Amino acid sequence: MIKKQLGMPYMGSKCKLSKKIVDEIINANPATKYFYDLFGGGGAISFEAVQRKKIEKVFYNELNMGVVELLRKIQKDGVTDEFYQWIDRETFIKHKDDDCWVGGLCKVAWSFGNNQKDYLFGKDVEPIKKLAHEAIMLNDSEKLRQLSEKIGIELPHKIIELDKTKGRKLLTRIVKKVKNERMDLQQLQQLEQLERLEQLERLQQLELSSKSYDEVEITTPVDETIIYLDPPYKGTAEYQKGDFDHRALEKWIADSPYKIYVSSYDFNLPKVATFKHTSSLSATATNNVTENLYCNRGHKDTTRLF
Ligand SMILES: C[S@@+](CC[C@H](N)C(=O)[O-])C[C@H]1O[C@@H](n2cnc3c(N)ncnc32)[C@H](O)[C@@H]1O
Repeated sequence: MIKKQLGMPYMGSKCKLSKKIVDEIINANPATKYFYDLFGGGGAISFEAVQRKKIEKVFYNELNMGVVELLRKIQKDGVTDEFYQWIDRETFIKHKDDDCWVGGLCKVAWSFGNNQKDYLFGKDVEPIKKLAHEAIMLNDSEKLRQLSEKIGIELPHKIIELDKTKGRKLLTRIVKKVKNERMDLQQLQQLEQLERLEQLERLQQLELSSKSYDEVEITTPVDETIIYLDPPYKGTAEYQKGDFDHRALEKWIADSPYKIYVSSYDFNLPKVATFKHTSSLSATATNNVTENLYCNRGHKDTTRLF
């Protein structure tokens, strides 16, 4: 069975590269016991690092408090039924920037293309999406009946008796036949995102904080510590907290006694590895990109290409 990469759905997520990046860092630094992921986002790098036996502690930090609160809530209570409630457009607009777990959930599971700003569904398709969601995720037979009526197809009751994944896929296929294909794919993806959150329940060991990277206190031994940075890229989609000061980050790195790795397309440090992958940095487009890993002090002599 292929092991799924962990991590919340997130704009600019390192999900596809997390294993390669963590391998590269750990192989070059076998003495690493403490790993700091200071621009944690969806957590792909932290979740990969926390599974490595040699690493004793992983510190995940992210400025976006709602996202951190969502992780805290999952660590504390697990993914409870509340996670599967329908979030409508008004609730999304009202709460998406709240510094609580609901704000984080709105951002990672209910925003269009994970852009954290716009509601997932268009106004016209919202009612049908809501019925489908409630029928499957909340096992609601009345909603299934209403959905049948709305799309003009008798949906078998057994759909909501199946486990959520199977029922959802079947329903999606049926609805797809009568509605626009692209939109239904979108709903399937969103429901899968909710499911991905469930995989995070076991990540109890992660130490979470919601500060700016330069406010995180780092006191672990220099020769056993790695700091990993995946800052907002220059010229790409903005996150929630306004402009990012890249010069200040460069200065912070220069002043730090620690070994620091930076993921970027372009950064003012020696390049140690290059990765090629497909990215979804905008809400609608994916493209092939080359991404680099940089390091502030003695990694290896050559740049590796993946
Ligand atoms: C490229 S994303 C990180 C993606 C992450 N590596 C992943 O795999 O999902 C950059 C993140 O930095 C966060 N951020 C922006 N300014 C920050 C700051 N001053 N301190 C910490 N995090 C910050 C943004 O909210 C965003 O989540």
